[in-house]
Amino acid sequence: MNTIDVVEDDLSSSSSLGEVGTSKSSEDQLSNIVEVVEDDSQTELLSKEELESDIEVLLDLADENVDDSSKLPDEINSAWEKTLRGLGAEKRIPEVIPLEIKPDSFFKKFLNMINPKAFELEDYDLAKHGPLVEITLPANSAYKEMEFYNVNPPYSYIRVAYNPEIHEYLYQVLEPELSKEETRLFKMIKERLGEVMDAHLKSMNRLDSEEYLRSNVNSFLIDYRIRITTITREKINYYIIRDYLGYGEVDAIMRDLEIEDISGDGPNTPVYVYHKKYESIPSNIIFDDEDVLNALIIRLAQICGKHISIANPILDATLPDGSRIQMTLGREITTRGSTFTIRRFNENPIMPGDLVGYHTFSTAMLAYLWLAVDSSRSLIFAGGTASGKTTAMNAISTFIQPEMKIVSIEDTRELNLAHPNWIPGVTREAFGGENRGSIEMYELLKAALRQRPEFILVGEVRGAEAYVLFQAMSTGHTTFSTMHADSVSSIVHRLENPPINVPRIMIQALDIVAIQAQVKIGDERVRRCKSLTEIIGVDPRSGELLTNEVFVWNAAKDLFQYSGRSYVLDDLMESRGWDDAKVKEELQERQDVLEWSRLKNITYFRDFSKIVVAHRREPETLMKVVRQDLNG
Ligand SMILES: Nc1ncnc2c1ncn2[C@@H]1O[C@H](COP(=O)(O)OP(=O)(O)OP(=O)(O)O)[C@@H](O)[C@H]1O
Ligand SMILES: [Mg+2]
Repeated sequence: MNTIDVVEDDLSSSSSLGEVGTSKSSEDQLSNIVEVVEDDSQTELLSKEELESDIEVLLDLADENVDDSSKLPDEINSAWEKTLRGLGAEKRIPEVIPLEIKPDSFFKKFLNMINPKAFELEDYDLAKHGPLVEITLPANSAYKEMEFYNVNPPYSYIRVAYNPEIHEYLYQVLEPELSKEETRLFKMIKERLGEVMDAHLKSMNRLDSEEYLRSNVNSFLIDYRIRITTITREKINYYIIRDYLGYGEVDAIMRDLEIEDISGDGPNTPVYVYHKKYESIPSNIIFDDEDVLNALIIRLAQICGKHISIANPILDATLPDGSRIQMTLGREITTRGSTFTIRRFNENPIMPGDLVGYHTFSTAMLAYLWLAVDSSRSLIFAGGTASGKTTAMNAISTFIQPEMKIVSIEDTRELNLAHPNWIPGVTREAFGGENRGSIEMYELLKAALRQRPEFILVGEVRGAEAYVLFQAMSTGHTTFSTMHADSVSSIVHRLENPPINVPRIMIQALDIVAIQAQVKIGDERVRRCKSLTEIIGVDPRSGELLTNEVFVWNAAKDLFQYSGRSYVLDDLMESRGWDDAKVKEELQERQDVLEWSRLKNITYFRDFSKIVVAHRREPETLMKVVRQDLNG
């Protein structure tokens, strides 16, 4: 039980007014108070319209007054109503009234006068007060429930529903429902808490911030003498916390680990989610008010520590949880209105064992790539949007030995490695709309070369940086990067032509290209590595680039086939003096380790890194465990 004692002070200041004022005495008092208000020199002030709207809310709430035990006698209510309505009349309204409800402010004194009793605010308790969210699917719904789970109980839940008539899935975010009046009260409280709150909240941790917001809501309710049920208050607390500390309207979706992408395509159209199991499906979140959508975009930019405006309406940024977000504001560049696309950050990145589990790579392909990484080969992961390029690059990077110095360069942070000797770099946009202060990938890459890294990882190359990347490869650095292209020939074409213009002779420095794709198998959308191709060199006579497809995915059988020839493995044999049997053994060991890590469900990235170290440092110990487990 939570008794707020702010009221105590107020009681003393209003004790001379007597228990409960009559309508006459309250009007007398009112004129005095109006004078007090007029004298008040507060800095943050409320406009006349805002005052009128607040009065409306208070009046409506009075009608709705849910807490029976606190119901005022009718005369008092009507006196209060009359007085408030009177305030709306031109002559009684002071130009402005203070925004903050200070102890001597008008509302507080007035409200104390009509209801001087302190009231207790009880903590919400699900068992006692009942649920906040209606979770049963109405019997007459056209939808069938496919799945139901909580993301932030008892406040938000997810239902994936299916409508057999129109063959459509719906992703339903279930949150507390607010009545019209509750919505208005919520908006009023939210406005009053104001932006100053952000500054306070910045210095607190999440729990303290929640407490702080709750106590502010409580103070507000006490100051205004607004009696609402514990359930209503808890619902309002939820929305206040969601909007101040969370991701607003998309907060529940951001908490759903099944979601890969979230895209808001504009007002009046549903926000789409990409669900791991159901793929791209519409949600029940629709912004029918453009201002609400714009406010969310501006807030998301703020959360990222960035700024978006009509003058600079495009923003790429990283949310605090590491998710990547792309936003546009207004209608000038995206004619349907503001948009946002969030690529959810996977705190625990997909590991090689997972890739085998998803059947994106075979163990043989990963064992081959593991050996390639061990012998410092440069790789490019190519494919279409969301085909899993960055994920594959991150997973393959776990094969890098921990003592290696790694420098990574990205536009927004996505890579997540367990390596201690890793410098993650991100590009920076220009300040204040001018072209000053921006740091491009190209410059970062040049700086990276001076840091003497053994491995350079570059997220998505598309411009001048690609040239520097190939220079780095040609001067003996190992680089991994991703590129938007769907075949080896289109990669080469892009590299050789403007704006990249890498000469063919330099392209030889690249060793292996992995082509990633999202494909449909039956009804399921899955990711497959369509091929692993080696770049062998340039034919001196024809000038053609020579390539060798080592592994290729057979779509009909959903199998990976080995071509029987690898120049990378040949080189390895030569440089290390291995024979055929030794290469096979090295590959088999790695395949066994990968298979074992999948069976043992070793999905935590730091754990997988430990296995890579163990394989290098104490192979016998590791292999003994692995083989014992595998062979039963
Ligand atoms: N092999 C896979 N199996 C299942 N899910 C995957 C796989 N690879 C990636 N994903 C998921 O797909 C989403 C997109 O992956 P990723 O960011 O790696 O794609 P991308 O090709 O780099 O995309 P972009 O073109 O936007 O850079 C992520 O949510 C990721 O978790
Ligand atoms: Mg990517």
